[in-house]
Amino acid sequence: MYRTHTCGELGLSEVGQTITLSGWIQRRRDFGSLSFIDLRDRYGITQLAFNEGVDAQVLTEARLINRESVIQIEGVVVEREKKNKVLETGEIEIRVTSIKTLSSAKTPPFTIEENTDGGDDLRMKYRYLDLRRKSVREKLLLRNKISMSVRTYLNSNGFADIETPYLIKSTPEGARDFVVPSRVNRGQFYALPQSPQTFKQLLMIGGLDKYYQIVRCFRDEDLRADRQPEFTQIDCEMSFIDQEDILNVFEGLLRHVIREVHSKEIGSIPKMTYKTAMKKYGNDKPDIRFNMTFVELNEEVKDSDFPVFKNAELVVGINAKGCSNYSRKELDVLTSFVKQPQLGMSGLVWMKVDETGIPNSSVNKFFNEEELKKWMTIFNAEKGDLVLVLAGEKAKTQKALSELRMYLAESLGLRNPMEFAPLWVVDFPLLERDEDNNRWVAMHHPFTSPKTEDLKIIDSDPGAVRANAYDLVLNGNEIGGGSIRIHEKKLQSKMFDLLGFTESEANEQFGFLMNAFEYGAPPHGGIAFGFDRLVAIMGGDEVIRDYIAFPKNNSARDVMIEAPSEISTDQLETLSINVIPED
Ligand code: AMO
Repeated sequence: MYRTHTCGELGLSEVGQTITLSGWIQRRRDFGSLSFIDLRDRYGITQLAFNEGVDAQVLTEARLINRESVIQIEGVVVEREKKNKVLETGEIEIRVTSIKTLSSAKTPPFTIEENTDGGDDLRMKYRYLDLRRKSVREKLLLRNKISMSVRTYLNSNGFADIETPYLIKSTPEGARDFVVPSRVNRGQFYALPQSPQTFKQLLMIGGLDKYYQIVRCFRDEDLRADRQPEFTQIDCEMSFIDQEDILNVFEGLLRHVIREVHSKEIGSIPKMTYKTAMKKYGNDKPDIRFNMTFVELNEEVKDSDFPVFKNAELVVGINAKGCSNYSRKELDVLTSFVKQPQLGMSGLVWMKVDETGIPNSSVNKFFNEEELKKWMTIFNAEKGDLVLVLAGEKAKTQKALSELRMYLAESLGLRNPMEFAPLWVVDFPLLERDEDNNRWVAMHHPFTSPKTEDLKIIDSDPGAVRANAYDLVLNGNEIGGGSIRIHEKKLQSKMFDLLGFTESEANEQFGFLMNAFEYGAPPHGGIAFGFDRLVAIMGGDEVIRDYIAFPKNNSARDVMIEAPSEISTDQLETLSINVIPED
């Protein structure tokens, strides 16, 4: 037997027992005739004590073993004189009577303790060592806990877990596909699924009614903190439902998970239209843990002499409550923030309301006190407040102010990671304009149904048609998205037509789905959650990498196994791939 107990469970009630433990040596401390080892496993750390008086031989052996080696010890549980309050097993230690090395370790490239000296790259290269650290391990265990909780909820609500293939034909979800060459079908390729979208719809046509899958998806897109090239979705689909049914079932899922994992109640999830989200928050995934909503000033300033405002498509601001004490330097930092190339604003206008209630602004030259007092009313600005205003082209200005709002909230401590504020964003536009290619693209995906009441304008004003599409937003992050689908061939063909597919292109790519619609398709709809994002947010983070056991780095590389990598000429030949040599 390798162990009678784990390193995380012994306490005063086991004092006097002879036990066996196995684990890794986290650290050793030597003092004259005494040595201590912190022995670590998945469950915790137990202090081992070696005493020359108890067994000189065992003490000598212990001192020869490197840190991170795997050992097995036998010993007696004794109460510690000096208790360690931080450690769960801190009331006891083990008086070791025998020690055996199960596997010796080289000196690790970084210290495997809570505060490690290893940089990101090094820890990624030796991910298996990083996984030994408590904080990293706990993130993966949280992931497991959430996945179990999701499965319990979905199973108890009649959903069946059904697998769909990974080697498929490309689905147009908006990103690039990863492709896999076929050996037996020379010159042909599979695509890895960006999501199981079409398959889950086919399962509904197959009568499966309520489907779910915690499933890997693959998208060849540029990486960000909340994106990985392979990531996991909680993918779901239901038949004979409308949008309200879906929102209720999945509000229930989030409520269940947050209750089980954090013992917190989220109440009923508010709904906001896409239009309102854009107007009040400047983006479609607002963080509603705090206010600071947008206020438009266009009407108020349209006759002013301030050229930046006068000619702007949008003049919009926020009220940073209680921030009138911001110094010149702090305001300069905010100005540089909106001027950074990604946001590209030309400047930032501010108005402070001092303790006497008098406004003072960076544009005093153009606006007198009376005019600024009007701003105060519009912004509901009181003594001590700071109003920040941006002006320019609409989309750009909305984006910049929305980023500024988040930046301010972060620095004001308004984004408490353990407060969960979910929001449904509904009524997304069906289409968005791809200006580069001068065509319409589906905002969600081409299988999303338009709102029936908007069908009448689908030809005259396609951009104004709203979709039966919804996103679930949590603390300013899109954690899920879905829609009620089209289930009629005629409407699906119309959609492809709008998206610029010829009839033969549509048939070639999606004939299988359109044909299926001709054999009795139930009304259906669904949603997919970004599982990695959900887990990260539940863990109080927004970066998903740490919540994935073996993630890719920012260049989409796995630096541990060194993937992607070249393959042999033989392999290439077998796959009938000709690689053109680089110059
Ligand atoms: P969508 O493309 O919105 O919808 O994806 C669903 C959710 O998946 C997460 N997500 C990602 N997470 C990590 N890395 C990525 N690269 C990444 N891309 C997306 C997001 C997102 O909300 N088939 C539809 C769903 C449906 O209509 O039912 C779909 O995939 O949290």
